[in-house]
Formats: sequence, structure tokens, C-alpha cells
Amino acid sequence: MTDVTTRTAVCPGSFDPFTLGHRYVVQRAAACFDEVVITVVVNPNKHGMFGVDERIELIRADCADLPNVRVDRWSGLLVDYLRNESIHTIVKGLRSAVDFDYEVPMAQMNRELADVETVFLLTDPRFAHVSSSLVKEVAKLGGDVAPFLSPAIHRALLARIAGEQRV
Ligand code: PNS
Repeated sequence: MTDVTTRTAVCPGSFDPFTLGHRYVVQRAAACFDEVVITVVVNPNKHGMFGVDERIELIRADCADLPNVRVDRWSGLLVDYLRNESIHTIVKGLRSAVDFDYEVPMAQMNRELADVETVFLLTDPRFAHVSSSLVKEVAKLGGDVAPFLSPAIHRALLARIAGEQRV
């Protein structure tokens, strides 16, 4: 078994865009670990609303007040990132039993592949229904998603949607 003495954890995700639900989990993780790395995982087969550089920039600005949080990127198997960085812990947020059912096989696979631990943190009930994809869908159809995003990310989302709709 890996000696998990390094108190660094990775919060991986697509973060397209980073929501207040993500931010809540990162903040809780930052209180539990010495350092938290938000790793934006690039899926080359998936074209996001925001490019990876934009997502990183938005997350950096959003988490600037959290001194032990940094942002990185990765393309490929997540456990390879952890191996490269000598990190042994992944933190994932859980909104519901649906998330749990989705996350458990990945946690088990990651443990088998690289002896990596996955720690689950509960999200705030205020954000239990919030996902990046739902926020994008609602915003595109004119719904108010301001309660689920930081003001800067909300502005960026509305600007991107306005740009897309002009095309
Ligand atoms: O925000 P998301 O899209 O729910 O994040 C899912 C993510 C990116 C964390 C997950 O798909 C992942 O770890 N992808 C990296 C590729 C990988 O390692 N796949 C095997 C997982 S067991």
C-alpha cells in the first residue's frame, strides 16, 4: 500500500465551466490538505464551450483567495498525472447517490492501476443540482444561472453564448 504522507490532493475535472459547486468542494479540500491541485483534464474528443487555457484562467482567478490551491492541466490517464507528480490522492465531490455510482468504478480502477486513494467530499446541498452541462443548457435558453457561478465566470459564460448565437 502507498504511504500517503504527501498531503497533496488532485481535484480533477472538465470544469467547462467551473461552478460554485466545484469551488465549494475545492475549498473544503483545501481545508483538509496542505495543497490542492485543480487539474483540468483535456478530452481531445470533446470540444468544450471554453478552451482549456480559458478554463484555467477562469479557475485561477476564481480561486486566487485560496493560497494552497493551484491549477494545472492534463491529457491522458489521470493516474499517470498523479504518478508524474508523486501525488497519491484524488478528491471528488459527491452531489448524490448518482454521482457515487458513477465515481466508485473510477475510484476502484484508479486504485488498482496506481494505488491511488479517492476521497469523496459532499457538496453543499445548495449546489446538489448544479452541473456545468445543466448550467450551460439553462443559460443558453435564457435562464438565470447567476446563483451557480462566480460573477466573472457568469460574465464569461454569457459573453460566450452571445458570441455563439451571433454566428
Ligand atoms: O468533470 P468530469 O467531466 O466529470 O471529470 C471526469 C474526469 C475528467 C475526472 C474523468 O473522466 C477522468 O479522470 N478522465 C481522465 C482519463 C482517465 O483516467 N480515465 C480513466 C478513469 S478510471
